Amino acid sequence: MIRRMAFKIQSAYLASDGLVAPLLNELDGMITVHDRLILSSQPAKEAYWAQNIWRNPIVVHIDSINDAAKKLKSIQHNWCLYSYQLHRRAKLILEKLSPVPFKSIIFPAHLSQVPIGTFTLLGDNVLLASADCSSPFPNGEPHFIEDKEGPPNRAYLKLYEALTLTGRKPQRGEFCLDVGGSPGGWAWVIQQTGADVLSIDRAPLSPSVAKFQRVSFQKRDAFSLLPEDFAQKGKTVDWLFSDLICYPEKLYEWILKWVESGVCKNFICTIKFKGKPNFMIINNFAAIPGSHVRHLFHNKNELTWFKISSSSPSGL
Ligand SMILES: C[S@@+](CC[C@H](N)C(=O)[O-])C[C@H]1O[C@@H](n2cnc3c(N)ncnc32)[C@H](O)[C@@H]1O
Repeated sequence: MIRRMAFKIQSAYLASDGLVAPLLNELDGMITVHDRLILSSQPAKEAYWAQNIWRNPIVVHIDSINDAAKKLKSIQHNWCLYSYQLHRRAKLILEKLSPVPFKSIIFPAHLSQVPIGTFTLLGDNVLLASADCSSPFPNGEPHFIEDKEGPPNRAYLKLYEALTLTGRKPQRGEFCLDVGGSPGGWAWVIQQTGADVLSIDRAPLSPSVAKFQRVSFQKRDAFSLLPEDFAQKGKTVDWLFSDLICYPEKLYEWILKWVESGVCKNFICTIKFKGKPNFMIINNFAAIPGSHVRHLFHNKNELTWFKISSSSPSGL
């Protein structure tokens, strides 16, 4: 039996593994936390640290596994499960539906436009279900087919995810900056798109990436690189990628110069935190016009800031 909730659940937020605390910090009206799922009495809001946001979830009373499946199907076709308890019963319900497979994605991939609902079992006979979730991936988890040989590390998965969400990627002949680029996971992704990439780092690129014709490298302090260096030569930067390990405040000051200069069209930057995140600086990034700040499945204690000049479909 589940006790009757004192508050109506208006939204739910799924945190990434180990990142419930920062998500709780930005939410109001918390009713309860079920493992990584936070239930709230307040309407859904954009939350930087959420891996998936359940908008307008409904409580559904069920008599049986079949009844659960019938009621969910009557709402919509595609469902995934977030299970924090009663795992076997929940899985049996999922098997009666047309579950969205956690299939491996081959990069580059188009985002599916089919909405994915999510449900969980709050009790033996009570479901919480949302047909309107923020992430285009089941439980906010894109699983890419991995390349264990090409890239020098697994950082490339972060860029796979970021580009898949934007629905855009660098084009052949475009010019990209990749600051904090060593050992070269991101440069490896960028050069595959056909774009040219200049990686900047104090540490060298892996020889397996440095060898590519479209990759060049400068060993220097990234913050010494300024938009004027390009503007004076009449050169535009199509994409600025940053995965620098640095204070978010320093990154923000530097990025602002690039945004204000108009020299660069698209930005994807990781904002990294040591310990507790500084929400003031996150809000500053988010306030840059045309921006989005998201916690990606492949982010750790970090967020990704996007500013993309595009009208193509986006999962942001
Ligand atoms: C997380 S690693 C980047 C991984 C890289 N994106 C990849 O895909 O392989 C962060 C990098 O930032 C570099 N870095 C930190 N501060 C820097 C600075 N001021 N100038 C240049 N590089 C810096 C470090 O040397 C390190 O290689």
